Amino acid sequence: MKVSALIALAIPSLLAGCASGPSAEEQAAMAADARKASGALIQKLGGELKAALNEKGPEAAISVCKERAPQVAADVSKQSGFDVKRVSPRNRNPAGVPDAWEAGAQAGLEKRMAAGEKPETLDTWQIVSTPTGKQFRYAKALPVAQVCLTCHGDPAAIPDGVKARLAAEYPLDKATGYSLGMVRGIVSVKRAL
Ligand code: HEC
Repeated sequence: MKVSALIALAIPSLLAGCASGPSAEEQAAMAADARKASGALIQKLGGELKAALNEKGPEAAISVCKERAPQVAADVSKQSGFDVKRVSPRNRNPAGVPDAWEAGAQAGLEKRMAAGEKPETLDTWQIVSTPTGKQFRYAKALPVAQVCLTCHGDPAAIPDGVKARLAAEYPLDKATGYSLGMVRGIVSVKRAL
């Protein structure tokens, strides 16, 4: 074979190598790590929330969500090496606005849940290209359970004290009116590659 033919063969495969990014195995390992990080956030926050609800009642538990949620997310981010946070299109804290990928991921998870998938294991991930390079993105659905309704359910059913506290602390609150089985938001996990 002529040298020029060899080069012609080599260039497309080199380019393909660049474009493909991490191997299938590397991607699967990252997805497993992201799943672990989101699980750690859900477990820690859920545990603290339940304890606060039982010991101090729902009004006081609002501060667990307000103060501890960002701290726990920062701890899990540091430990895992991912950027981990909670977002929702109907967010309570204005900091929880989803970006385009997160909004699309949640919509996709909602469809899969409507089609009958179990909410506990509902997640998705993707390698995306951005102007600053490739990113690994992961989303885990946060389904609405009974315990969430005290603070995110039908406003008519939310205790008055909780409503007053939410109105004072979150004047732009969009996160009420949920019912069981809806997707409240996602745990969003990302890492630059
Ligand atoms: C005691 C009241 C309370 C309960 C119970 C509660 N939340 Fe929240 N939730 C809040 C508050 C307050 C915030 C805003 C936190 C902040 O300032 O970052 C919040 C924020 C969130 C967010 C982040 C996005 C946003 O809207 O700002 C998600 C997602 C969320 N809650 C899901 C849930 C789920 C799922 C449950 C049930 C397992 C639940 N919450 C139970 C009070 C509560």
